[in-house]
Amino acid sequence: LSIFLWYCSLNRNIPGILTFIEFVLNLFGGENKVLPFPSQVVYNRVGKCGSRTVVLLLRILSEKHGFNLVTSDIHNKTRLTKNEQMELIKNISTAEQPYLFTRHVHFLNFSRFGGDQPVYINIIRDPVSRFLSNYFFRRFGDWRGEQNHMIRTPSMRQEERYLDINECILENYPECSNPRLFYIIPYFCGQHPRCREPGEWALERAKLNVNENFLLVGILEELEDVLLLLERFLPHYFKGVLSIYKDPEHRKLGNMTVTVKKTVPSPEAVQILYQRMKYEYEFYHYVREQFHLLKRKFGLKSRASRPPLRPQFFIPTPLETEEPMDDEEQDDEKWLEDIYKR
Ligand SMILES: *[C@@H]1O[C@H](CO)[C@@H](O)[C@H](O)[C@H]1NC(C)=O
Ligand SMILES: *[C@@H]1O[C@H](CO)[C@@H](O)[C@H](O)[C@H]1NC(C)=O
Ligand SMILES: *[C@@H]1O[C@H](CO)[C@@H](O)[C@H](O)[C@H]1NC(C)=O
Ligand SMILES: *[C@@H]1O[C@H](CO)[C@@H](O)[C@H](O)[C@H]1NC(C)=O
Repeated sequence: LSIFLWYCSLNRNIPGILTFIEFVLNLFGGENKVLPFPSQVVYNRVGKCGSRTVVLLLRILSEKHGFNLVTSDIHNKTRLTKNEQMELIKNISTAEQPYLFTRHVHFLNFSRFGGDQPVYINIIRDPVSRFLSNYFFRRFGDWRGEQNHMIRTPSMRQEERYLDINECILENYPECSNPRLFYIIPYFCGQHPRCREPGEWALERAKLNVNENFLLVGILEELEDVLLLLERFLPHYFKGVLSIYKDPEHRKLGNMTVTVKKTVPSPEAVQILYQRMKYEYEFYHYVREQFHLLKRKFGLKSRASRPPLRPQFFIPTPLETEEPMDDEEQDDEKWLEDIYKR
C-alpha cells in the first residue's frame, strides 16, 4: 500500500490516481478506507451549476472531517492577470492541508508557476439550461425571495430586466450572443486569452485538461451520482455527503427550485442558441460521456439517460446557485445605455 502511495505522489496525474482508487476499493472490498491523498483539491465552480448546494454541503463536511475549506469572497473575477495568478496560486498552496479551495475561477495551471498541481473537481450542466437559469436569475432572483433580484442587480434597468428572451436571442443582444455564450469551456481551458474565443482550440484544450487535471467533472442532471462518486474518490472530504444531502434537516439544500416566472424561448430561438453554443455542447457531451464511463467503472447504475425529446430546461431540481457577476457584466450597462440613448 505504501508503495502505491509513493507511486501516486510521484505520479500526480488523474489516470494514476483513479487506478489507485480502483485498486484500493478492490483491495478492501469497497469498504471506504480513508485515503490519505490527494490533500490539495480545487473546485473552480462553474456558475449556475449547483455550486451553492455543493458549497453548503462542503461547510458541513469540513467540520465533520476536519479539512480546511478555503472559500473566496471574490465572485466576479474568473480570469486573472499573470501576477494575480501567481499570487493566488501562492496563497492557495500555503493553505493548511488537506484543503479544498473553491472559487468561480477559470482553470489555474499551478505547475506553470512551480506549484504542486492540485486535483480539480467540477460540475457542469446542459448549456442552454445553464444559460436560461442565469438569464432569469439575474433578473428575478430565486427562491430566496422576491426582493432578491433588487439586491442582486439594483442598477439593472427595467428595460433590460423585462427584455424578452426571444428578442434577446433573435436580435443578437450581447447577453445572448457569443462570446458571452461561451461560458463553460473557459473554466476548463484556463487563463490563456484564446480560452475565451469560441473555437476548436479552447474546446480541445478544455478536454485535455479534463483528462489530465480533473478527478471528476460531474453533470448536475445526475447530482446524486456526482456526490456518490465524490464520496468514493475523496472520502476524507466527502464521506457521508449523500446522507447529509438527503437529510430532511437540511431541506434547504434541496429546496432551491426556481419559483420565479420563466418563459421558455420559442423553438426557433432555442435552435439559434444550439447553433451559437455548438462548442459548449460538444464539451458538455464529452464530459457527460466520461462521467457515464466512470459511473460504470465504479459500479454505479447509469440511469437510462436518453436525450429528452423536448429539451427539459426547467426540470425542478436543486440547481440554483450564484453566477459570478463577471467583468463582462459591466459591458451590459454600457450597451444598454447606448441602446436607450438612441
Ligand atoms: C490569501 O489568503 C488569505 C486568507 O487565507 C486572505 O486573507 C488574503 O487576502 C489572500 N491573499 C490573496 C492575494 O489572495
Ligand atoms: C501548464 O504548465 C505546464 C508548464 O509550463 C505546461 O507544460 C502545460 O502544458 C500547462 N498546461 C496547461 C493546460 O496550460
Ligand atoms: C422551501 O423553503 C421555503 C422558504 O424557506 C418554504 O416556504 C418552503 O415550504 C420550502 N419547501 C419545501 C418543499 O421544503
Ligand atoms: C467585484 O466586486 C467588488 C465588490 O463586490 C467590486 O468592488 C469590484 O469592482 C468588482 N470587480 C469587477 C471587475 O466587477
